[in-house]
Amino acid sequence: MGDIVTVDGLAKRFGDLVAVDHVSFSIAEGEIFGLLGPNGAGKTTTISMISCLIDPTEGDASVAGSSIRSEPLAVKRALGVVPQEIALYPTLSAAENLAFWGRMYGLSGAELKHAVDDALELAGLADRAKERVEEYSGGMKRRINIAAGVLHKPQVLLMDEPTVGIDPQSRNHILETVKELNEAGVTVLYTSHYMEEVEFLCDRIAIMDHGRIIAMGTLNELRDVVGGMDVITVSVENVSDDVLEQVRASEGITKADRSDGGLTVLTASSGSVLGKLVATLESEGAHVTSVTVAEPDLESVFLHLTGKSLRD
Ligand SMILES: Nc1ncnc2c1ncn2[C@@H]1O[C@H](COP(=O)(O)OP(=O)(O)O)[C@@H](O)[C@H]1O
Ligand SMILES: [Mg+2]
Repeated sequence: MGDIVTVDGLAKRFGDLVAVDHVSFSIAEGEIFGLLGPNGAGKTTTISMISCLIDPTEGDASVAGSSIRSEPLAVKRALGVVPQEIALYPTLSAAENLAFWGRMYGLSGAELKHAVDDALELAGLADRAKERVEEYSGGMKRRINIAAGVLHKPQVLLMDEPTVGIDPQSRNHILETVKELNEAGVTVLYTSHYMEEVEFLCDRIAIMDHGRIIAMGTLNELRDVVGGMDVITVSVENVSDDVLEQVRASEGITKADRSDGGLTVLTASSGSVLGKLVATLESEGAHVTSVTVAEPDLESVFLHLTGKSLRD
């Protein structure tokens, strides 16, 4: 199948800040494409340009054959967008919110009613459709927000970090919903800073940092970037900058950075560096509670390419 989204040298500058720095990629029809990167990488800015919310400084993109610069209306018709910020009226019910969005997309009468019913079903909230949205949990609001993005049955769905700050149950529901929509034929561009989500969902992934795509490919292709290496995760408290520098300078250690609750270390020879790593940490007063060695994941690809961990 052909490409349904193509992004060609897209760039956005805000004053002196280059938020998106000549990004190019394409998404084949039927794919789930992931844009993975830390906060501030430029994911939302990229999505905002593709969805014609902001104008690019340079470059162009097309959706279903229409250019964001010259045919924004056609682009908007082909797209569904699930923004990072929730866009719902708190005092209206879920059904009323969805009907509102449906009318914005030009639906009415029986067609609108069907679209709203389908969307409530998709969100798993058909039985609570008449409650005011302000009574909903954060996760339920997000599910309704996603449903609103697909009311008009778009060919391409852009989802901007749809699981940030929600409970695990809603998170799983959302991930399953993305798969379900994709199986029904929707092409998805999914942004996240959670590598597990992108690993679970995406056929291909672009890793973004400081406005640039620093690696792109299938999960296996990306893992090959750190082929032959292991990831050592150390649960440890009180890692000073000094100790981190010592670890980074140790023989056999390719990259190291702080991560959730400790330290992540990339090495081609875990067997020979483990003992010394723990000794270095403990001699400096850090308290090691556990050490695990694993195959590389996207986190380690990111660490390898940038020297930083994805989650600070
Ligand atoms: N409207 C804006 N004005 C100025 N700077 C912005 C604006 N929007 C985003 N930025 C900056 O652009 C960079 C990329 O932001 P963003 O696209 O939101 O990243 P992400 O979605 O990956 O977290 C950040 O440094 C952010 O502060
Ligand atoms: Mg963002």
